[in-house]
Amino acid sequence: MPFCVAIDGPAAAGKGTVARAVASEFDLAYLDTGLLYRATGAKTYEGLSPIDAAQSLTADDLARDDLRSGDAGQAASRVAAIPEVRAALVDFQRAFARRSGGAVLDGRDIGTVICPEAEVKLYITATDEVRARRRHAELIASGEDVSVEEVLENLRERDERDSARAAAPLIPADDAMVIDTSDMTIDEAVKIVAQIVSQAMAARV
Ligand code: CDP
Ligand code: CDP
Repeated sequence: MPFCVAIDGPAAAGKGTVARAVASEFDLAYLDTGLLYRATGAKTYEGLSPIDAAQSLTADDLARDDLRSGDAGQAASRVAAIPEVRAALVDFQRAFARRSGGAVLDGRDIGTVICPEAEVKLYITATDEVRARRRHAELIASGEDVSVEEVLENLRERDERDSARAAAPLIPADDAMVIDTSDMTIDEAVKIVAQIVSQAMAARV
């Protein structure tokens, strides 16, 4: 079984930032699984049903430039609650998690559903307020005119929907290590995760 790092957690906790840095440091492939749900949600704006959208997803759909908006996040979380949508996306993610060179995936159900046998399972979190401030800064930088309060409400609504759904809910795997990055800089969070990955790699040889 190739090496797999599974990173889950609520919205804007810093999962992707840490995942990308660790993948690059250890030369592992990286998949942002949230993008699959964001692209599926965005395709429904064009009139496709969520299931048809998920089943017809292409690389071009993942490269759309409107996927990082608050609305795309909400659309993602709505389609992500539909079991048939999740089923349409599962094989691609499971195959990616088992790439021969090893992989890092981040999302909501990586340690619980996509790669339950991952050597490293992390649940990265931060307080609601910290996460809202971080995402707000990103959205403002990308030109979206939105207040911190609106971002906070958007994140909370999404986290609640993601945690309450029956299909692959957002929940730490029993054997996941929980890392609260509320008081950490990006460098500090990356360093801690890199140490965990390095130890896990050393333990398997
Ligand atoms: O992937 P996820 O939605 O969990 O979060 P992200 O997109 O990686 O991070 C959200 C924002 O928080 C980014 O702008 C990061 O630069 C910033 N941030 C962070 O990720 N970690 C910290 N310790 C501090 C800030
Ligand atoms: O970056 P952020 O954490 O805000 O969101 P994301 O990771 O891009 O995910 C967007 C939405 O997709 C989430 O709110 C979930 O509803 C859904 N998602 C999921 O259900 N399962 C995953 N493995 C990844 C994302």
